[in-house]
Amino acid sequence: MKVISSEIVMSAVSPKQYPEDGRPEIALAGRSNVGKSSTINTILNRRKLARVSSSPGKTRTINFYLINEEFYLVDLPGYGYAKVSKNEKATWGKMMETYLSSRKNLYEVVLLVDIRHEPTNDDKMMYDWIKHYGYGSIVVATKSDKISKGAYQKHFKVIREKLGMSPEDKIIPISSLKREGIDKLWGNLEDLFMA
Ligand code: GTP
Ligand code: MG
Repeated sequence: MKVISSEIVMSAVSPKQYPEDGRPEIALAGRSNVGKSSTINTILNRRKLARVSSSPGKTRTINFYLINEEFYLVDLPGYGYAKVSKNEKATWGKMMETYLSSRKNLYEVVLLVDIRHEPTNDDKMMYDWIKHYGYGSIVVATKSDKISKGAYQKHFKVIREKLGMSPEDKIIPISSLKREGIDKLWGNLEDLFMA
């Protein structure tokens, strides 16, 4: 994918604010701090388009990034952040449910997990939720610079087993730090539009 243009068009808190042009969307879901916003910047070759923070809970809204005026990448707010109030958790749940269940032009929801760790119970719940709505054919394993390449397969196995992934579902390692895995991820995202 040659990224010619990328811009944020909306930080939405309610469905009324979602873009209405019907362009296809690919959303990124995952725990707070897993690297969703970093991944968006990396694959778009932008340094500061999506805001990144070392403290979890940075992205609290559904952010729509328009790419090449053709489709959207959607940065979803992270979950599993301990310092969030009950009220905020409920708001998050409602926001996610509304988006996932009603979005007609949503092509795929990609789950991001940290390559180093076994997915959490929250990850498993999120994955089941994504699958329930018919998405989840791609899982991205972030921060791949943190382990050696020789250890990838072992970590993929742990991720596959915990999430209960089907053999045809893909895991793609990515490192925003080393800028690795970008072409492979784009290749798989492009395949979605062909299917
Ligand atoms: P929320 O917005 O809170 O849901 O988090 P997020 O998933 O958007 O994570 P974000 O992209 O803000 O990154 C969280 C932290 O992880 C930051 O300190 C990043 O610099 C770091 N990080 C992200 N990707 C990588 C990576 O590939 N390698 C390494 N080593 N660190 C990374
Ligand atoms: Mg973020």
